[in-house]
Amino acid sequence: MARRVTTRLGPVTLTSPLIAASGTVGSVWEFAEVADLSVYGAAVAKSVSLEPWPGRPPPRVAPSGTGMLNGIGIQNPGVETWMAEVAPRLSGLETPVWGSVVGREPGEFARVAERLEPAVAAIEINLSCPNLDGHMIALDPELSGEVVEAVRAAVSTPVGAKLSPNAPDPAAVAAACARAGADWVVLTNTVWGAAIDPATRRPVLSGVVGGLSGPPLKPLALRCVVEVHRALPDLPIVGCGGVKSGLDVVEYLLAGASAVALGTVHFAEPKAGRRILDELTRWMERTGVSQVEDLVGAMETP
Ligand SMILES: Cc1cc2nc3c(=O)[nH]c(=O)nc-3n(C[C@H](O)[C@H](O)[C@H](O)COP(=O)(O)O)c2cc1C
Repeated sequence: MARRVTTRLGPVTLTSPLIAASGTVGSVWEFAEVADLSVYGAAVAKSVSLEPWPGRPPPRVAPSGTGMLNGIGIQNPGVETWMAEVAPRLSGLETPVWGSVVGREPGEFARVAERLEPAVAAIEINLSCPNLDGHMIALDPELSGEVVEAVRAAVSTPVGAKLSPNAPDPAAVAAACARAGADWVVLTNTVWGAAIDPATRRPVLSGVVGGLSGPPLKPLALRCVVEVHRALPDLPIVGCGGVKSGLDVVEYLLAGASAVALGTVHFAEPKAGRRILDELTRWMERTGVSQVEDLVGAMETP
């Protein structure tokens, strides 16, 4: 019997629980040239700001155990160039493309979202970039709520808020975002990390501290999903962090995520989405699970 892999994320129905994570699939159209986009329910473009951002100088990526550190600093061409050069290339893609917006204060996020809206199916609000100087918005429930409120007022597309595993209380941030009108939360972005080269005694990244992603992030992000789902069982969640197999997806679904984003795995294996979806459906067949939605939040509590 075929397994049902569709899933609902608030107002959005996804044909697959897999989402291609922002910053790991370029502006999506390039990724569509090397991978099968149809295995994803949605693909999220790299975050975009109001003005062009140059990002940090190199070195800005480095391996770290089984994961990776990055300190890109959201290099992007700014929303006007993005709309002129990227948006026209997205219209032919069958998989819904979501935009990701970033900024320094609520009004700036709202202006970028408003400008992006005609080109995207939904908007992810990146409150949690670890590589911007100054305060990370996702550490602060009140400020996170203000940003979501501003974006919510500016657009009518569905809106998700991307949060940080560095927040002392992710459930408090998620609650503020939900109150302000977020349709779902993404848990999580990368976690702050660093590496030093003993030979040179220099930090490996130009920004010294960057964002750790890949398998070492998974337990931290999964813990955030468990905590937020426990506190806010009706708030839809996209799990994200360290997924590299179908079983990792099952864990996030059981913890309370309705969809699961893949990021770092794409760098070593651009076609990972196909393999991971096959692993998920084979596991469902073996264990007698007929639909993905039956797994959401189905963790047995001791
Ligand atoms: C090189 C790189 C660039 C990223 N750029 C963005 C970005 O622009 N916006 C964003 O919201 N997340 C960005 N992320 C975070 C990922 O979307 C994802 O949340 C994170 O890497 C955790 O998932 P993973 O362990 O599967 O990679 C980036 C991650 C990496 C590794």
